[in-house]
Formats: sequence, C-alpha cells, structure tokens
Amino acid sequence: MSKFHLGWFLGPGITIQGWNEPGFGHGYDWTKPDLYQDAVRALERARFDVLILEDSSAVPYTYKGSMDFYLKHATMTPKFDPVMLTPYLIAATRHIGLAPTLTTTFYPPWLLARSLSTLDHFSNGRIAWNIVTATSDAAAQNYGLDKQIEHDLRYDMADEYVDLVSQLWDAWEPEAVVMDEATHTFIDPAKVKAVHFEGKFYKSRGPLNVPRSPQGRPVFVAPGGSPRGRQFSGRNAEIVLAGGETIADMKDYRDEVHRHATALGRDPAKIKTLFTCVPTVVKSADEVDDTRKMLAQVRQKHVERGLAAMSFLSGIDFSTFDLDTPVPEIKTNGMQTLLRTFKNAGPDATLRDIVTKPNGQGFTHMVGTADQIAGQMQEAMEEIGGDGFLVVGHFKPKYIQSIVDELVPALWKRQLTRREYEHTHFRDNLLAF
Ligand SMILES: Cc1cc2nc3c(=O)[nH]c(=O)nc-3n(C[C@H](O)[C@H](O)[C@H](O)COP(=O)(O)O)c2cc1C
Repeated sequence: MSKFHLGWFLGPGITIQGWNEPGFGHGYDWTKPDLYQDAVRALERARFDVLILEDSSAVPYTYKGSMDFYLKHATMTPKFDPVMLTPYLIAATRHIGLAPTLTTTFYPPWLLARSLSTLDHFSNGRIAWNIVTATSDAAAQNYGLDKQIEHDLRYDMADEYVDLVSQLWDAWEPEAVVMDEATHTFIDPAKVKAVHFEGKFYKSRGPLNVPRSPQGRPVFVAPGGSPRGRQFSGRNAEIVLAGGETIADMKDYRDEVHRHATALGRDPAKIKTLFTCVPTVVKSADEVDDTRKMLAQVRQKHVERGLAAMSFLSGIDFSTFDLDTPVPEIKTNGMQTLLRTFKNAGPDATLRDIVTKPNGQGFTHMVGTADQIAGQMQEAMEEIGGDGFLVVGHFKPKYIQSIVDELVPALWKRQLTRREYEHTHFRDNLLAF
C-alpha cells in the first residue's frame, strides 16, 4: 500500500492542556506559546503533515443552563485565538502545515482572506484553513445574533463564502509584483483586478491589498460530518477531518465525500481524508488490558465533563436527562454528527453508556504497543483505501513523546508514513502520495 498522512488535531484548542488529567503538570506556563512551539517542533521531527488548531468563540453555558461547570473545570474554555498563535508556530518550524480554525459564519470574508494570505506568505506556503460553520447559540450571541443560524443554511453560506475568498485570493496574478526599477514599476496594475463579488449572502469589492501568496490560497480543511457537511467537503475540501466508530463508518464517510466531489467534476485523489484517533502506546502487550481498564476509569470519572461538552456541541442540556435510561430521539441545530454516535450506540444505550464508551465521540481509541498500533493503522488504511490519521489530543509533553518517539518510528519501520518533506509548500506535500 502507499504511504498515509499524519495530522494532529489540537482538539481542546489553545487552552490549559489536560487540566486535572493523568499527565498534567508539565511545567509550562499555559498562557504562553512555548508549549505549542516545542510540541510543533516535535511533530515536525516526526514528519507530521499538519497541525490543526481547534477553535470556538464562546464561554459555553448549555449544561445546567450555566457557565459555572465549564469555567470551574476548564471545559471548552478558556481559549486563546489560534490565528494569533500561528506566527509563533511558523517561527518554530520550516516544513509542517499549520491549520488555524476560522468560522465562515462570523469572520468577515475579506479579513479572513487577508489574514490567511499574510500567514501563507510568512510561512512560505504552509497554511491551511480549518473551515467550520460554528455550532452554538452562545457564539452567535457574541457576534450580535439571538441564536445560531439554521444548520444547512450555514453550509449554504459557507459555500458562497469559499467562492468569495477564492476570488479574492485569485485577484492577484502570480507575476503581479514585478519590482522593476528600470520602469519604476513595483506592481503591474494589469495583473490585479477588483472582484466585485455580489452573492446571496456576501458582497465584496476586492481585491486584497496583499499579493498572491506562495500557495495561492490556503489548503482547505473541512470537518463537518452531517450529510450537508459531507456535501460541503465534496465541493470544497482538500483535507476532510472525519470521525468514525467503525472501519465501515470510516470507509462510508470517505466514499460519500468522493461521490460528491466526482459529481462536481473534482478529482477525489486530491482529497485526503484523515480519521480521528486516540492512540495510547504501552511498553508491552501485557499492559494492554490494565491500561484499557485505567482509561475506562478515567472516562467514568469525567462523565460530567463529557456531558457538558456534548451539551455545548449539540445545544441540548444533557443534565436534564437520566444517565441510566435509554436516550430518547433528539434533534439539534448544532453538531449533527454527534447524533450518529447516539444512533450507532443502539436503542437501548443509556447516556452513561454513550459518554463512557471508548469510541463514543467518533474518535477511534487504540491501545497497544507501538508496533501493534502501527499494525492496526495499516490494516484500517488497507480496508478504507486511505488517506491517513489525525491524532486527537491535548498537548501534554509525555503524550506527544509517546507518539513521536514510539509510535511514529514503528510506522516508519513499516514504511507507512513520510520520512521527509519532499516539497516546500504544504499542498504539494499533501499531494505527494
Ligand atoms: C476532527 C474534527 C475537528 C473539528 N474542529 C472544529 C473546530 O475547530 N471548531 C468548530 O466549531 N467545529 C469543529 N468541528 C465540528 C464541525 O466543524 C462542524 O461545525 C460540526 O460538526 C457541525 O457540523 P455537522 O453537523 O456537519 O457535523 C470539528 C469536527 C471534527 C470531527
């Protein structure tokens, strides 16, 4: 089989990493960028393709109708701005792709296009954009709305948004900056055009006041897993961030995005689906059972935190449900992908079952020696057809080390992941296999 790609999804965002969990107490000041710089250097040493920086823009208040739980337990808050962290990561690395999350629903398109173009210049072509539509009413209220815009409409807006920012990025031709002293010409005016975009939702004159960046535009990343989200990915994504509780789920997800892409005349080989996973590396096979038990105990201990997180993502207050009776059918204007987790658990599953099961959030949990996990990843990729994994986790130094210094060498031994960055730009590395 051909090689597969590795990404890291910094799921909790730019926050205190792993508060009150095993492995916490790593000696970094959580309000400074040093931890992230050291972590991204380690990922680059292991030849990760990309680091994705999660974001959301609210202090949640869904669980028990209050901010208290979230604030007290540092759950989904506080969060620093990933766009502001990105230059520090650029400065610490040379090759790895960097993907801040910015939402189409609230970020002004011209501003987003300019910021990402600037970062693509500064990084010499290593920027990607994690395109999210945002889920919560709390975020909507921070931006002046009473509640979140309807789920599928957010995706319609996002399609148009992507068209607009793409036109803004294309408005500068590649050779527009001539810097010709003989003719006193810095920029050739014939090579920069206004865009005069007028859509249903957005309007912008353009162009940007930033020249075309090394990659032209950032690599587009899309994580929405609902039917409408997958359609959006088929139209726009170059990287799909996909959950999946079983191999069949994962294969379906990738195939569905490919079908949407093909219908629109896109080449599916240029879309890389990365599957979320949480590997726990142990030293010997004898430790696997005990480690699984220990992880199950941690999940039991953090039931309430899981409920609070699910409440925020779905907009449903799960504190009002009985933990130990089967969950009734629910609907959400938030993260619809979460509902698949409920459906997959079966009609008799209780809320406690759902919140404590290992693959409950659609992240595949793997426990084993480095070689066992490498073998599982290889088998999964062979069945699914590609394209790689996205390690989901807090930036805790010991955990990063277990992935970078133990799992990745085992993947290298099997020649499964990249040993070198062949190209300068992130998109070219992504398409190298
Ligand atoms: C791996 C992964 C990463 C995601 N990252 C973010 C994020 O950083 N910010 C965010 O608001 N949503 C994030 N999401 C959620 C989706 O972008 C999307 O907003 C949400 O799932 C609702 O869309 P859906 O109903 O199509 O799933 C992520 C989802 C997955 C699976």
